[in-house]
Amino acid sequence: NLEKDLVIAIDGPAGAGKSTVAKIIAERLGYIYIDTGAMYRALTLKVLNQAYDLEDEKKLGTLAENTDIKLVKAGEDNLVLLDGEDVTAEIRDNKVSNNVSVVAKVAKVREEMVKLQRQMAQSGGVVMDGRDIGTVVLPDADIKIFLTASVEERAQRRYDELIDKGEDVDLEQIKGEIIRRDDIDKNREVAPLTEAEDAIYVDTTKLDIGQVVEEILNICQEV
Ligand code: DC
Repeated sequence: NLEKDLVIAIDGPAGAGKSTVAKIIAERLGYIYIDTGAMYRALTLKVLNQAYDLEDEKKLGTLAENTDIKLVKAGEDNLVLLDGEDVTAEIRDNKVSNNVSVVAKVAKVREEMVKLQRQMAQSGGVVMDGRDIGTVVLPDADIKIFLTASVEERAQRRYDELIDKGEDVDLEQIKGEIIRRDDIDKNREVAPLTEAEDAIYVDTTKLDIGQVVEEILNICQEV
């Protein structure tokens, strides 16, 4: 029943294909796509630019309160604005990827981000992806998907992506970084990465993007 404006939550570890899939599903349904990882990335970029101490949780919390993060749609593109500045490309840098989990551990940081995320989902007709969407941000979501893939497959996808961008990268190193990031995300005290009890588990290791999209759209039809 897609006449109703559904709220779709997609969670899972890094490299499972969440953002690619979520974006396509939002386009197909005419929904808003909200990439919550981009919000934590934007804040992390600010932390790094201002050379803040990553261990100083109090300061990171205050910074989160005083930072303006917006996700805006501009034609085909989803732009990320940090205090009004377009940081869409910069937040994908490896430096941000490798520090974002530390920033995302901070309770006050999460509180601020969750507040914004709930406001953005208020109108319904949204696909939101992240780590804690089905469990914490939108526990009443109509559909909850837990998207995952083997760590080898996720590392390979990330490697291919970076090679495509012309970067000089090492597969084993990327795998190590993914394992480390998963470990911090899963074991943090606040809102750890975990599957919601009522989530549908989708393993994408052997599926391509089109197949994953179809599977999720089928699930939407059944609601
Ligand atoms: O999905 P991503 O790789 O862009 O996410 C970046 C980081 O942000 C990830 O390591 C964990 C964190 N994150 C989070 O803690 N909660 C979310 N809802 C989304 C991302």
